[in-house]
Order: sequence, then C-alpha cells, then structure tokens
Amino acid sequence: MVNAMFEIKYRDACARICDWKFGKYKVRTPNIAIVVNPDKQIVTPAELCDIFGAEIIITNAYIIKKSKNAKKIEKEGMHKFYSWNGPIYTDSGTFQMYSHGSVTIRPQETIDYQKKIGSDIITPLDMFTLPKDNRETAVHKLEETSKRISDARLSVSEQLLVGPVQGGRFIDLREKASLSVGKSGADVFAIGGIVPLMERYEFSRLIDTVMTVKMNIPPGRPVHAFGCGHPMLFSLLVLAGVDLFDSAAYALYAEDKRYMTVRGTFKIDDMHELPCSCPACSGKKPSDMDKRSIAMHNLYVTFGEIRTIRQAIMDGVLFELVEQRVRAHPALLEAYVHLLQNKDYSDFIEKYDPVTKGSAFFYTGAESAMRPAIHRARKRLHERYIPPKGRKGYLVRSFDRFAKSTDNIHFIVRESLYGVVPSDILNIYPFGQTIVPPTASKETHPGADDSLNKYISTYRQYYRSLHIISKYKDAKDLDDYEKEPHDHLLEARSVLMYQYGGGAEKILYGDIKLEVSRKTGRLRRIYIGKDILGTIRAEDGMFVPARLGAERLKDALKKISYRVVVSDDAVPFVMEGKSVFSRFVIDADREIRPYDEVLIVDSSDKLVGTGRCLLNYDEMMDFRDGVAVKTRIGFS
Ligand code: GUN
Ligand code: ZN
Repeated sequence: MVNAMFEIKYRDACARICDWKFGKYKVRTPNIAIVVNPDKQIVTPAELCDIFGAEIIITNAYIIKKSKNAKKIEKEGMHKFYSWNGPIYTDSGTFQMYSHGSVTIRPQETIDYQKKIGSDIITPLDMFTLPKDNRETAVHKLEETSKRISDARLSVSEQLLVGPVQGGRFIDLREKASLSVGKSGADVFAIGGIVPLMERYEFSRLIDTVMTVKMNIPPGRPVHAFGCGHPMLFSLLVLAGVDLFDSAAYALYAEDKRYMTVRGTFKIDDMHELPCSCPACSGKKPSDMDKRSIAMHNLYVTFGEIRTIRQAIMDGVLFELVEQRVRAHPALLEAYVHLLQNKDYSDFIEKYDPVTKGSAFFYTGAESAMRPAIHRARKRLHERYIPPKGRKGYLVRSFDRFAKSTDNIHFIVRESLYGVVPSDILNIYPFGQTIVPPTASKETHPGADDSLNKYISTYRQYYRSLHIISKYKDAKDLDDYEKEPHDHLLEARSVLMYQYGGGAEKILYGDIKLEVSRKTGRLRRIYIGKDILGTIRAEDGMFVPARLGAERLKDALKKISYRVVVSDDAVPFVMEGKSVFSRFVIDADREIRPYDEVLIVDSSDKLVGTGRCLLNYDEMMDFRDGVAVKTRIGFS
C-alpha cells in the first residue's frame, strides 16, 4: 500500500488546510488539479509549475489512449511525457462517456491502463449519473459504480484510488453512495455527476449534494468536486468541506474567448476594460487578449482564488469571504442561504467550526446572522449561563464598554446578533469580537424581542429589580456604581460556565485572587493563594487552565466532559508535554469543538495534561495522521 497522510493544519467552518502526503509527493489542500491534454497544451505543465505553483495535475486516461501520443506515453510514462515531477491524477473516461455518448471502455481495462501510463491517483470507471436519470437508472449506476470501486481496490495498491460518489438527484442515493464509498478503502472521495448542476447554476442542489456527501463519509480523507473549475464557486464549496477542484475550464473558456473572474465569466468581445492586473492582463486592452493570454489570465484568477481562500481560512474569515463571493450571482446567494437555513447542514458545520477565531466576526449582511457560530453562541448561552442572584439588573440596548457589572448591579445587553448577552461574558469570542454597523436595526438583530422576553421571564426572580433602559447613563444609582469596582469574579464564573457548561464555576473556591490588566482593566489571571488556577486569554476571553485549574475542572465536570482520552502508550509522551496524535485518541467528549481547551486523561480518567484540541470527536476517531490535541502542559 502506498503510504498516504492527510493532516489538518488550519481550519474554518468545514474548510481545512491540510498537508496531503503520499509516496514522495506533498500537496497542500484546498488545491486545484489543472487538466492537461496530451495533444494540445495552451499552457504547458512546466509553466503550471513555474508560473502558477501548481502542485498536482490531472489528465484523462481515455483521451491519452485515443491520442496520437499514446504509444509515446505508454512507453515513457506520463511524468516524462509531461515533464512533470509532481503527482498526476488520472480520470478514467467516465466523463467522456457522458459527454461524447457512445464510448465503450471496460472497467478493468481502464485501471490497467492508468497504471501502465504511470498514474499516481487512479479513478475507476464510475457511471456518470445525470440529474434527469430516474431512480431505477440511478440505483443501477450506483450499484455498478460501487462494484467497480471495490474491484479496483483489489488491483490498485501502489497508487491512490479515487472513490467516485454518484446517486444523481436522489439525496438518499447520494447518502447510500457516500456510505459505500466511505467503506470501500478509497483514498480520495470524489463527488461525481455535478457538472450539469454547475452548468445550469443549480447551486442549491449542488450544496445539497456536497453536504449529503460530507455528512456521510469519514472526515479523514480529501474530498474532490469533480469538474468544478470556476473560481466563483471555490470559496462556498471549500466552506462546505471540499478540498480539491479540477479545471479544464481555464482552457475551454479561453477557447471561446471567455474571461473568468471571481464574480463570474465575461465574453472578452463584450468587454471595454480589463478588471485585472495579472501579468497576462496588465498593460493590455480586451482586444489585445488572444486565447493564450485569456487562458493565462484564467489560471492567474484560479490560483489567486485558491490562495485567497487559504489565507481566509488561516485568518478565520472564510464566512466573510464567502459572503462577498456569493453576491456575484443570485443563484450563489440562494445556495449560501440554503446552506445556512437547513438545520442538518448548519448543525453539521457547527461541529467543525472552531470555537474561537483569529479575527473578529464581521457582519456583512443579513446572512451573517445565520452563521452556525451564532446558533452555537445562543444555544450555549441559553443552556449554560445563569445570571447572578440578588442584584439590580439593567438591560441596556446595545454594547457599551462602560456597562460593567458590580457587586450590586448586573448589566445586560439586550440587542445583539446573539440576542440578550450579559456584560460578564462580553469579552468571550464571539460576543465581544463581533462588528456590526452602528445602524443596527431589528433586521440585523433578528429575534431580539423573543430573546429579551425569554430572559426576563426566566430570570426575573434572580434580580432585586430588573429595568429596561436605553444607555448605561440612564441607570439610576450611578454615583455608587462609578465608585464600585467591576465584579471580575462574576466574569471568571461566567466564562467558566459558558466555556465548559454549568458546574465549571465550582472550581472557584478557596483564597481567590484576581489579577487585572492595568492597561485594559480586564481580568487576566486567577490565583488560589499563590497557585495559578488559569489565565483569561486577552484575544478571545477564554479560560486557559493551569494545572490546578485542570485538576479542579476534572472534578467539577462530569465524566468525559471536555476530556480527550488517550491510549496508555501515548501517556508518557503527553506527560512530557508532547502533542496528542489522533491515532492515540481512544475516546472524547462529543461536545468538543476545534480549538476548545480540553483535559487530557488516560483510560482510567487520570489527568495527564491539558491542551488545545484541534479536531472534533468524529475527526479524532477517523484521522490516522496529525495532531488531535496540542498539549499545553503535561502532568508528570
Ligand atoms: N468529471 C466530471 N464529472 C465526473 C464524474 O462524475 N466522474 C468522473 N470519473 N469524472 C468526472
Ligand atoms: Zn488577468
């Protein structure tokens, strides 16, 4: 078996930046495999590598077989023929059978041929299922495809094997296909039969297909969207969890003198200006652009978008990028809203979306209020947070940095994207890191009234009195208030409650001392006597437990809660402070989300360390490679 590794390095939403290593190759995903043709190369593989930094190419075994260069390629292999040292992915000819109609190839023949010409990633001859295929046809094609994948696995061992997912327009068949491909031993999961949906701008159905596949295949291997080469679609599909694209579009479009942008495609003959300063466009007018320059431009845009997406993932702003991109076309906007409004999709994305991000949450339009991070924050607030008792409560309209709670007064913000938010958790991501235009209205804060009514009816009896005011200045007794110190202990308790669930605040006992930053006035460290319990991280307000904090959390939280259980052979490494690799994880809390602060325990629930978790439960159970928990402290 070829040794393959797929390892998450950065993440946002369902997107992941991974190092994908197999044999002598290394590819960073998300990425695009550029389609090269053995007979006509408007851009050569050497140029793809040198100019665009392409890491992987894809070519078609069927086209090679019919090519005038077939003999040469069979003899010297594709790597020599294409002068390409990187990985070569081959497609089988399925798509040609679909687009040319009457091609006949035998399944085993195409596998043998792909091996013969030196493919690194082999595709079985799946059966292209059309959106118009009826159920009977779709079932037949699915069964035949499954059989061909299993047969192929028997003879493909030195190369990676692709598992195409068919099923046509039938969501239950897509589900079935995904489960079957997930068990087939394939190294790459490729979503097939989606070209007609993209051609017809049926992007909501494309989202249904991609999400159904993602929700039913194991998370630990790369997912390829077959035939998706338009940069306009990349960010949305990456957000949904697609790792690999392929593009013949750059050349096919150039052939018709069509110019790609992230906002859509334009006919060069209709253009008066070139909106781009890539090397192919700069200094030129549309009338100067020949097919080759258009192909080059199309590639610049394609690779540029892949890099833009990766940067957005690293910065934690992929939703913000997608919300810009989907405005290019109503069908894209509709698909994005469809993705967010479907509860199953939204809940799935929530499991993968990090609990904290490197950048603020930017509100870019009404859809921003539907992001899974908002549902999560609202849900956790509702399930985990309880206000302090016996104070005077003031519900101010919007966020106000002066409205901090004291021993006597509890300030609560009533209109935010998250509904009602108590001031004592406003420093935690995302509450205090959300940027909404100051002209906030009922539209930007949907459900604010419901949230307020619910808060009041649930918690009225907690307060000595509870008042709705506009601004902090409208509160009575401010003279006293301004003299009183902010209640940082309340903040400590509320952060713990919100982050780990109710009960976690019980770790605050004994001789508690709070260290407050002189510069920002914010809570920084919590001590018990001379021992540090934990730190409140400045960037996102999250509690990072020290040893004492971790020990107390372990006692306060019920079993498995916020724990990652490692196998006994990994324990000594964790104790030394080494990170936990996912293959050593034997169990974990289902509620853990990427970037949560977790407790690392052995199989008898003994605490062996703490760390930042990089994966969710499903990922920890499936990924063979990579770090599951970045250990902060090992307890020896
Ligand atoms: N290229 C575009 N769509 C498909 C597909 O469904 N299967 C294969 N093998 N290649 C494709
Ligand atoms: Zn350009």
